[in-house]
Amino acid sequence: MDNLKQVRKKIAELKEELNAVILVHNYQRPEVQDIADFTGDSLELSRQSTEVNAETIVFCGVHFMAETAAILNPDRTVLLSEGSAGCPMADMINVDELREWKQRYPQASVVCYVNSSAAVKAESDICCTSANGVKVVESVPNNDILFVPDQNLGHYVSTQTKKNVILYPGFCYVHHNIKPEQVKQAKELHPGAKVIVHPECRPEVIDLADAALSTSQMLRYAKESPHNSFIIGTEEGIIYPLRQENPGKSFYLISDNQVCKDMKKTTLEILARTMELRQNIVTVPEDIRVKAKQTVDRMLAVGENPKPPR
Ligand code: 13P
Ligand code: SF4
Repeated sequence: MDNLKQVRKKIAELKEELNAVILVHNYQRPEVQDIADFTGDSLELSRQSTEVNAETIVFCGVHFMAETAAILNPDRTVLLSEGSAGCPMADMINVDELREWKQRYPQASVVCYVNSSAAVKAESDICCTSANGVKVVESVPNNDILFVPDQNLGHYVSTQTKKNVILYPGFCYVHHNIKPEQVKQAKELHPGAKVIVHPECRPEVIDLADAALSTSQMLRYAKESPHNSFIIGTEEGIIYPLRQENPGKSFYLISDNQVCKDMKKTTLEILARTMELRQNIVTVPEDIRVKAKQTVDRMLAVGENPKPPR
């Protein structure tokens, strides 16, 4: 038996032993996506974590994703595949910084992107993901919204609503690095291709795109579209399911550095070791968890953003 087969077998055995489900984000390595019970975007995986019938949730992604599962599921054990996998954007705001901004804008309601710590969620009014930011902001009765931490997602949402959105200056280096000139070049190289980008991209990049979508919304868009070629403005992991689900269609990245280092930390070997040692257990202090859960639950009650034309 080759090594890959052995690791897969080991993971399957450990899954039984732990009574576990494996949730995998769309940016993970192909071989990790292949062993998933469920793959998805941040919103789908949060929802999925509340619907599984298992004692243990093993999360292949980054820390805030596993932490959100822990916020929602206090009675289950949540393991993060690789303990050091974080999100540099989520780390751009801590609870003291948020409190300072809240003092500066006391009239505003706080919408926090799910890419944030449990403590930041606990200090916010409602959470959102890239799939529902517009709907979430519209659901808030207040006209003034303090949006943290992603300035680009916050800006995109502001273009889709009439609300006054105050932007905190966080960003994702993977998406912020994509430049409008690169999008123009890709369009010249692949004339007629639809351009779909993540709302974490710069406003000038989103302006050049046909749609700004979460990762799972990109998968649905490509499947439902009558078009055959697509330029993709997000982390390169999404190319694997796009090609798997659409064998006759072509997908092109805008640049060759659309890679999230933390998302790529998980390998099958690392996952097997985490499960074997029952390590990287993610927990949240109960007082913070209860408040953060309200923030996430409010989000889960809101639908997704309207679908763009295909
Ligand atoms: P999605 O929720 O769209 O999958 O995005 C997660 C993320 O980290 C984007 O960089
Ligand atoms: Fe964070 Fe960006 Fe990586 Fe997503 S792609 S986990 S936002 S650093």
